[in-house]
Amino acid sequence: MKRTTWLCLLVGVFVGVALLSAGGFAIADAPKVSTFAPAKDLAGQVNEYVKEFEDAVKNESEFADNQGKIAKDANTLIVIVLALGMHDTDNPYKAAAPALIKATQDLAAAKDHAAAKAATEAVKKAASSKAGGADKLKWEKVASLPELMKAVPLINTKLKRSVGGSRFEKKLDESAGYSATLAAIAQGAIANSGETEKPGEVEKWGKFCVQMREAAAAVNAGIHAKDQKATEAAMDKLTQSCDDCHAVFHADVKK
Ligand code: HEC
Repeated sequence: MKRTTWLCLLVGVFVGVALLSAGGFAIADAPKVSTFAPAKDLAGQVNEYVKEFEDAVKNESEFADNQGKIAKDANTLIVIVLALGMHDTDNPYKAAAPALIKATQDLAAAKDHAAAKAATEAVKKAASSKAGGADKLKWEKVASLPELMKAVPLINTKLKRSVGGSRFEKKLDESAGYSATLAAIAQGAIANSGETEKPGEVEKWGKFCVQMREAAAAVNAGIHAKDQKATEAAMDKLTQSCDDCHAVFHADVKK
């Protein structure tokens, strides 16, 4: 080979490595999960979701009414469990996380009542699995972005209600669970840039996800501090993160 060819190869390798490390930046830089979503808040949500799945698969007609809800909720539970598996705080789902993620992914993919019912049983069983393997988990794409994004506004609406007015003091546990879930979704969605309208804009996508994660974390911190003013200020930041990201990645979303 000529010297120029070698040079081109060398430059190519450098550029390739630089691009790869740029693409992975946001995921590699994930902070400890406890800094944005307390394990206790996330763990409390697991039970809630499992109970709702049981109700939704009780019979054919319940399933028909709830198929869309199952898809949203299962995808949400997948990122909650990934966050619990990777958590720096010990929690009841750490050893179960890999098996529970897999079972919940099967539920998310279930196309009919029989499959959803069987998958729900498998999810319940996996929730108490002691199989372990959480050390191999990483922030990779585990859930569907469109389904997560259908779940986000619903959770956000529940959160808005539960931190509002005189409900604030009474609903601290629920509010903590919802805000931790939104933070986990934001972190989990970093790996989903490929499903957006601009799959090449990995860094920008990561930045908006982090913006949402940090805002949801601030809401969660306000709730734990029982500080309604701080919570409201953080809620404004959370809404800002939705709008900022949509302006770039989902310009036609209805407000
Ligand atoms: C990191 C970027 C980002 C953030 C942050 C974000 N969204 Fe989205 N949102 C999207 C994208 C991308 C879609 C389109 C998803 C798809 O259907 O493929 C979307 C879709 C939606 C939709 C339409 C869902 C449907 O039914 O199809 C709603 C509503 C929505 N987002 C609300 C919110 C709210 C509320 C927040 C803040 C709490 C938020 N989003 C935060 C990127 C974001």
